[in-house]
Amino acid sequence: MFTIGILASGKGSNLAAIINQVKSGFLKVKIGAVISDNPGAFALEIARANGIDAKYIEPGGYRTILEPQQEEKYVKCLKEYDVELICLAGFMRILKKTFFNSFRGKIINIHPSLLPSFPGLEAWKQAIDYGAKFSGCTVHFVDQGIDTGPVILQAVVPVMDDDTPETLHQRIQEKEHIIYPLAIKLISEQKIRIEGRRVIIDEN
Ligand code: GRF
Repeated sequence: MFTIGILASGKGSNLAAIINQVKSGFLKVKIGAVISDNPGAFALEIARANGIDAKYIEPGGYRTILEPQQEEKYVKCLKEYDVELICLAGFMRILKKTFFNSFRGKIINIHPSLLPSFPGLEAWKQAIDYGAKFSGCTVHFVDQGIDTGPVILQAVVPVMDDDTPETLHQRIQEKEHIIYPLAIKLISEQKIRIEGRRVIIDEN
């Protein structure tokens, strides 16, 4: 079966959404392993509670990237599970060349804005501070930039006058939980092809 690996640093609500869609039968994939750079990530608990291999792999001493020899351990682990797709689900580190050499074109991410607006951290807060009337979320392929890879799916969320960063993030996450499993389904069923920057979805 098409096997995915998930990298997560935090509370794991996207992981939970993916697991739910595997259980429902909507997603016909196997989650090989969940790996975190944060030993206290709730995502690891969610994985274990669902019988999925959950591993903390030390990130090393850097703050925004994995130390190169640690990055190699992540890649080695994912290869051991024969993963065909790596899904970043709130993974708070930028991947570097060991990942791209091994899994080029096979890494996707969910970002809480309509890219290319508001890349980087706390995108929901950026949208409010900017005064945007709409934000949303984006599933995209990961390339070597920050939130710059080809867009697979997006969902729009209106920004309300009384939104706080928290209320907007919560409504964006409700959409994330729909489009992330859908993007994984489309890739696992080989219904997606990339033409330059454009991701074409074969609806048949
Ligand atoms: C999400 O908002 C996602 O867009 C961003 O990180 C957050 C992860 O949330 N990349 P969760 O851990 O899946 O709940």
